[in-house]
Amino acid sequence: MNNVWSSYVQGIDTLYLSRKLRFDDFFERKYKELFRIDESRKIKILEIGCGPGALAMALSRWYPNAEITAIDRDSEFIRFAKMQGTSVNFMEGDATELPFEDNSFDVTISNTVSEHIEPSKFFGEQLRVLKPEGVCLVLSARRGINIAAECTAPDAREEEFWQRVSQYDDSMEKYAVCQYPMSEAELPAAALQYGFKNVSVGYAAVDLTPDDPKYPPQMALDMINAHRGTKLDAFDSALRTMPEVVNAAEIEKLKAAANCRYDKRIELYERGEKQWDTNVNITMVVRGVK
Ligand SMILES: C[S@@+](CC[C@H](N)C(=O)[O-])C[C@H]1O[C@@H](n2cnc3c(N)ncnc32)[C@H](O)[C@@H]1O
Repeated sequence: MNNVWSSYVQGIDTLYLSRKLRFDDFFERKYKELFRIDESRKIKILEIGCGPGALAMALSRWYPNAEITAIDRDSEFIRFAKMQGTSVNFMEGDATELPFEDNSFDVTISNTVSEHIEPSKFFGEQLRVLKPEGVCLVLSARRGINIAAECTAPDAREEEFWQRVSQYDDSMEKYAVCQYPMSEAELPAAALQYGFKNVSVGYAAVDLTPDDPKYPPQMALDMINAHRGTKLDAFDSALRTMPEVVNAAEIEKLKAAANCRYDKRIELYERGEKQWDTNVNITMVVRGVK
């Protein structure tokens, strides 16, 4: 199909790592309480816009009796997801024309996808492929809390860079990202409008705080490295999307400086010098029934 998203919008490894953390088994109970999926029988779940696949992989651990299919139109995400060797059936496909028969699935689910797809198609296709009484779960990231460690704060050169180039950044329109944002009130209203009944909402707060001793060291390091990846991806993406105003040598210097700052953050973590930087991710879950 294409690989626009993985090439220009979000890098594969970074997206995978950030979602792997957000859907870690540590938080399984919070999500399952909101999903309210019937575990007593063998069900079929379809994830739409699965990206590199971290949510689908979490679902396969949390619902071992379910048969899980996950689609995305980005071929590189699907290639990556298939390589992880799980029981999920990953495939390329378009959410606006799902390649499935009517009434095929018990549950459809998506995470941070609804804002990118025209709502009548987004909800309409899920309504079509769900069985009667099937459940549609729309997960959507909401404003959380982000506190960076002092040692990872951008230096003056980086601040000047973003100030200079942001005025040329038209990637959101160019790659059709977030063209249909909806508020916490609009999203459940849309689920009702496009045919779902018994619509309800809930929120899962997931705190990613490397210094909190409840997290094992590998998870804490993943949190710091997920940040690092997001930062480095942003530089690479600036180079790809604005080649006329950004040059490769400048990006290499900015990336090297950022890498040093995150190495320092890891050093502080390993020395036990707590910074208490945190990311509290809020995921809204809209649940509707066909
Ligand atoms: C913000 S990413 C989220 C990916 C994944 N759900 C996650 O949380 O890691 C949005 C995803 O939606 C996919 N997408 C956007 N429009 C799509 C469409 N019409 N059909 C299938 N996938 C689509 C993109 O390729 C991208 O992987």
